[in-house]
Amino acid sequence: MESFVIEGGVRLSGTVRVHGAKNAALPILAATLLADGLFVLENVPDLLDIRSMAEILMALGVRVKREGEMLVVDARGLRSNVVPEALMSRMRSSIFLMGPLLARTGEAVLGYPGGCAIGTRPIDLHLEGLKKLGAVIHEYGGTILARAPRLEGTTIVLDYPSVGATENLMMAAALARGTTRIVNAAREPEIQELERFLNAMGARIRGAGTHAIVIEGVERLHPPRPHRVIPDRIVAGTLLAAAAITEGRIVLEDVIPEHLEAVIDAFRKTGARIEVAPDRIAVEGVRPYRAIHRLSTSPHPGFPTDMQPQLLAYLTQAEGTSVLVETVFDGRFRHVPELVKMGADIVVDYHTAVIRGPRRLVGARVRATDLRAGAALVLAGLAAEGVTIVEGAVHIDRGYHRLEETFAALGARIVRTTERPLLAPEGQV
Ligand code: EPU
Repeated sequence: MESFVIEGGVRLSGTVRVHGAKNAALPILAATLLADGLFVLENVPDLLDIRSMAEILMALGVRVKREGEMLVVDARGLRSNVVPEALMSRMRSSIFLMGPLLARTGEAVLGYPGGCAIGTRPIDLHLEGLKKLGAVIHEYGGTILARAPRLEGTTIVLDYPSVGATENLMMAAALARGTTRIVNAAREPEIQELERFLNAMGARIRGAGTHAIVIEGVERLHPPRPHRVIPDRIVAGTLLAAAAITEGRIVLEDVIPEHLEAVIDAFRKTGARIEVAPDRIAVEGVRPYRAIHRLSTSPHPGFPTDMQPQLLAYLTQAEGTSVLVETVFDGRFRHVPELVKMGADIVVDYHTAVIRGPRRLVGARVRATDLRAGAALVLAGLAAEGVTIVEGAVHIDRGYHRLEETFAALGARIVRTTERPLLAPEGQV
């Protein structure tokens, strides 16, 4: 079991490059199943979730090779459309494989996806959408079997602008017969990135970034020229929060500031100084910070749920009472009891967290329960007095490439350690 050990109280300073976006690279990797050929993907971060997706592709016969930040994917060997259950349950994004496998092979067999523990995460919108495209879906004993000799274009109205369902359906519809309209589609930058990738493969898609995406199905797709994945807006936001919470000054390079508008706006409201240039952002934290009276997470272009835990950790240092409402996931406040252990004053009522600040944070042993909760605890540790141990580094590794090295390069005192649990897990000796 790996943990991060942080000695807090250092103002971070320096320049840092933001790595490629996990949530853009994952659907792009799934999309490689749509064509027979060799793909070159650049700026793909070496993260646990990316490795899991690569392992699934390899289990289906695809060859995946990493060279630094480049992944070479050879989808010519695709020989199976059955996703092994053990791999499926590792992460939520494994569900993305359903659309491409169905479209390319006419059939897909999958288990139910796993993923971060941030609330109930149903897949009904994925399945309903695929059924509307003509797939026949049977669910039995934890297995989903989907069949469709050829998908047929149609209009799909999503009940909620789900990022994953929009991506899955875009991929499936790219090879369907006729035109598909996805209404109430998600508008995240990762959707636009997938549209760019699929169109470079020969798909005919327009409207990504708006509520209605139109996909004219084509007979066949081909690998595009080498594709560079967009920078990770949540990693950028986390680094921005780290500068603010430590009263530091950081320059972020290789960022797309338009993807971070709601985040920049929220931090500016608290008094953080943020300067924006076309591909860099400079952040400076200057106390006293102001509380945010009320902010709700919402689908893009609203404030991203993936930045809520980090903002919440920072607001423990703001003067006054802040209110954060989580509207996207129903179980995403598991960082709160851990922050309270460190001295924060936070009360949660179902979807709403009330944060009273500023409170002096003191180092403690805390546990990351999911990726962004873990990031929030590291931020709190950077600002706390004394030593903080964040257990569960494995969760953080899903979405941040060697976070400890990134922060250490900015002056933080942070190391990764391997600890042996004092008690064996239940049922083991
Ligand atoms: N939902 C349903 N039914 C569905 C699909 C979603 O009810 O069939 C609900 C979910 O339960 C949730 C809401 O819709 O309450 C939003 O879920 P969405 O489908 O938009 O999220 P996702 O595709 O599962 C992606 C990111 C998440 C990010 C969300 C929201 C990837 C691989 N994951 O998840 O990223 O939080 O969009 O922006 O793109 C993370 O990186 O830490 C992370 C969790």
